[in-house]
Amino acid sequence: MQYRRMPIEIEAPETYGYENIDCNLSESSYADQRLGDLGISLNDLVLFYGDHLGKPALRELIASQYQLKADQILLTPGAAPALFMVASSLLEKGDHVIVAKSNYATNIETPRAIGANVSFLQMDFDKGYQLDIEALERLLTPATKFVSITYPHNPTGVSINESALKKVIQLVEANGSYLLMDETYREMSFIPMLPLAATLSDRVISVSSMSKSYGLPGIRMGWIICQNKKLMETFLAAKEQIFITNSVVDEEIAYQYMCNKEKLFAPVKATIKKNFEVLKHFMQNQEVLEWVEPQGGCACFPRIKKSIQIDTTQFHEVLLNKYSTYVGPGHWFEQDDRYMRIGYSWDKTEKLEKGMGNIVKAIQELRTA
Ligand SMILES: Cc1ncc(COP(=O)(O)O)c(C=O)c1O
Repeated sequence: MQYRRMPIEIEAPETYGYENIDCNLSESSYADQRLGDLGISLNDLVLFYGDHLGKPALRELIASQYQLKADQILLTPGAAPALFMVASSLLEKGDHVIVAKSNYATNIETPRAIGANVSFLQMDFDKGYQLDIEALERLLTPATKFVSITYPHNPTGVSINESALKKVIQLVEANGSYLLMDETYREMSFIPMLPLAATLSDRVISVSSMSKSYGLPGIRMGWIICQNKKLMETFLAAKEQIFITNSVVDEEIAYQYMCNKEKLFAPVKATIKKNFEVLKHFMQNQEVLEWVEPQGGCACFPRIKKSIQIDTTQFHEVLLNKYSTYVGPGHWFEQDDRYMRIGYSWDKTEKLEKGMGNIVKAIQELRTA
């Protein structure tokens, strides 16, 4: 493995210091929740090594939503370790993998760190960040171990429909590869929610977590769902070598949250929808940014209009240092810094409005044409 710190982590807002940022639009999750607001009780919890697959009652609860079996769910300490476990289980140095780009950085960096031969399935602004199925067909080779996609997508917020997902699965199956479907934002969808991909084929590996939709990244709780027993055995071996088990504290909080999910998640969805409308209204009434309207998640990936001449490094510096507004610069996603990820549901709605105003001010101030 060739580990290398990723810019998105080196420059993460928590590293910079939340207290130093007035308008934090750099996040890709819903606002972090306070344990005391969730009605969770931990006093009876015994701090033992838990079940190696993960707390059985929680796995049963997740499985029952999709007519799956509890042993088809492997709990992990977040989606990032799940993605790591999948990539390190399926890939060796020199193996071929296809990864959508842009993407959540780990989805690209882990195959790279392994030394895999990574082909990118480009998602272009000018093509509405759409999934190019023909390009995928061209990239697939008999040696392709897996295809890695994320929907709803981070950072763009675009999605696909069920028939496109099924087409991808068909291609992957016909090629004898696997599909790694990062579904971390699946429940945050403005278009009909996609079926859980792993229910559609035993060649699909679904990954998700409690971090983004529920605003619980601090409990480090995610999962892999897969119907292929042999693969699940390998993923369990990976988990046992890295973690043995999850934290039982995290599992218990996740379980109690899930038992009460309908009630806890309803206001989250309402806030995201409200903020999305605020953002949309803002985007329609300014002239310096252009975007592909998101269809889910809680982030979008607009760019400063191509016609505007601006030093983009200076733009991000001024935006942060003068206006105390943080967005995710394009280079976090291996793109030009003319692009920026704007997370619209982590900070308060007033901060979203103020931060968007600051982005426009900084561009107007620095543009040379
Ligand atoms: C698409 C996607 N997948 C996975 C993760 C990792 O999330 P976590 O490990 O907190 O569950 C993120 C975090 O930004 C993400 O955006």
